[in-house]
Formats: sequence, C-alpha cells, structure tokens
Amino acid sequence: MGGFFDRQRVLLAPMAGVSDEVFRFLAKEQGADLAYTEMVSAKGLSYASEKTRKLLELGEGEDRIAVQIFGHEPDTMAAQAAWVEDALGEALVYLDINMGCPARKITGKGDGAALMRDPELAARIVSAVGAAIEHPVAVKFRRGYDEGVETCVDFARRMEDAGAASMVVHGRFARQMYRGRSDRGAIARVRRAVSVPVIANGDAVDAASARALVRDTGCASIMIARGAQGNPWVFSQVKAALEGREVPDLPTVRERIEMARRHARLLAERAEGQIVRMRKHAMWYVAGIPGASAARARFTRCSTLAEFDSVLDDMIEQASLHDALDARCGHV
Ligand SMILES: Cc1cc2nc3c(=O)[nH]c(=O)nc-3n(C[C@H](O)[C@H](O)[C@H](O)COP(=O)(O)O)c2cc1C
Repeated sequence: MGGFFDRQRVLLAPMAGVSDEVFRFLAKEQGADLAYTEMVSAKGLSYASEKTRKLLELGEGEDRIAVQIFGHEPDTMAAQAAWVEDALGEALVYLDINMGCPARKITGKGDGAALMRDPELAARIVSAVGAAIEHPVAVKFRRGYDEGVETCVDFARRMEDAGAASMVVHGRFARQMYRGRSDRGAIARVRRAVSVPVIANGDAVDAASARALVRDTGCASIMIARGAQGNPWVFSQVKAALEGREVPDLPTVRERIEMARRHARLLAERAEGQIVRMRKHAMWYVAGIPGASAARARFTRCSTLAEFDSVLDDMIEQASLHDALDARCGHV
C-alpha cells in the first residue's frame, strides 16, 4: 500500500451517482484523507464509453484518488485497470475492486457482491488485476452474501492470498441492502484474520459513531458514505474525534444552506450540464431545517443555478422568521 495506511485515515466512500468531483472536493476540504470515485464499469471502459470515462475525470487540483472498478471478467478487469493506471498516473493512490454492491442490476450480471458467492473467481480477478498494474489492488466487500451467512473472514483470507493489499469491509450482508445495522464484530474478525490493512465501514455518521467503529473493530482507518451526504463537516468532526482533539461544533442552519449554495455553484462551474445532480445534494443539505419539505418539492424541479439559489434564499428567509439561522443541526 506504499505506506498509505501506516497512518490513521478517514476515507470518503465510493457512491454511485454521488461521489463526483465536487462532492470529493468538499469532503477533502473538511479533512477526508482520500476520496474514491464512484464505481466505474470495466466493461464500459472496454467499450471506450465516454460516459464511463467521464467518471474518472479529476477535478482541478485533485492530485490523489482511489478508483473503484466493477465487473466479473478477470481479463477485462485487468486490461481496464491498466488503462486507468495509465490515464491517472501519479494521482492514482490505489485501485479498488467492488465486491459489495448488492443492487440486482449489478449482482444479476455476476458483478459486485455476486463475487462473494464465487471466491475463486474473485481471487482470479484480484491476481489478474495485480499482475496488470503497478499500483496496489484493494477490495471492498460485505459481511457475506445471504443474510445470516457470514463468509467475510474466509473471503478476506482468499483475497489477501490473491494479492489484495488492503480491504474495506461493510458489516452488512448483501441481501440486507442497507437495512439493520452494520456488524462491527464481523469487521473485527476480518481485521484479526488478515495482515493487510482493513478499513472499517458502516454507519459512521458523526464523532461518536466513528469512535465506536474504531473501538469495536480495532481498525485504525474508517470509511464514510451516507454520513457525508449533505454533510461534508462529518470529516472534520470525525478526524478531530479520532485524533483526540476537541470536536468542532455542528454547522448552523445558515452554514448548511450556504454550503448547499456553494455546492450548487461549484457543480455549475465545474461540471457542465450536471447541475441537476444538485437536486439530491440540496435535499440532503436541508434535511431537518425549517421549510425543508416545501423546499424538497421545489428542488425536484430545479434545473439552473438561479433556481436553486431562489429556493435557498427562501429557506434563509423562513429560517430567520423562525429565528433558527444560528441553530446547530447535525446529520439527519
Ligand atoms: C447512494 C449510494 C451509492 C453507493 N455506491 C457505491 C459504489 O459505487 N461502490 C461501492 O463499493 N459502494 C457503494 N455504496 C456503499 C457505500 O460505499 C458504503 O459501503 C455503505 O453505504 C455503508 O457505509 P455507510 O454506512 O457509511 O453509508 C453506495 C452507497 C450509497 C448510499
């Protein structure tokens, strides 16, 4: 891993449709040590799909990234991993293989979490990709596939033997999707079973839950996904908590609204034609704020920066009427 995990790291997770360059930029600004791309189809890359390649475009000044690819054909994955390495050069910290996505349209093709049901194939993918690139290969998987059938420990050992240099473990079964809780004990069992760095993932949304994740898994580094939606501040809070510093205050309602405005502006500037992506981010930013439900209905119809600004202006007005602009508000 080139020593990357010698220090404690807090990572922004790969999230399809979410982890674009603006989201990554805001997370890193608040202290995320590394951000992932969203998952990128190896097959799509092999067809030279412009839409797929776009997912690999780095933002201005973005000089470090982890790329995640998905697929199930060792040769295609290896060839496309080499293409990614070539395209990103020095900026690539490592390449990760998605073995945890539970969505039917992914597992139905044998990709994502389906690989947990075929550890032999998963291992062949890891070794083929490892042989094709110089960067380290990582894997991201879940506690197991079927609910109640924990396979992550054996699976982790197989991946380590095949050459995985680190692994992210999310403590839910694939069939569980996002229901229930992520099992920290399962992550701890993986951590004890392998000698490569294990990054704990699942349900870290604030300082207290991040501390619990580190404490109960024994993993130094953690990864955050949903807790960062509309909430880049989670990284400054979690970093402070894990480093034993005083945890900064939660953002105020005004700060949340202003961050939404900035996020929209950055999207409009940096990602032409992508402003509609702001709809879901805007909803996340304003969750729990006075006037949020009316605003959410309006966000779904916004397609320009000016339209987002106008809803956010009205929210500022609403919140000031409720004398709530300076109230502090955490992740909902
Ligand atoms: C909208 C969304 C998209 C996701 N996309 C990916 C993905 O592309 N690759 C991946 O490995 N995991 C993906 N995940 C799973 C997360 O990376 C993470 O493992 C999971 O959400 C558990 O972490 P959390 O409790 O911090 O959210 C996604 C999750 C969400 C909510």
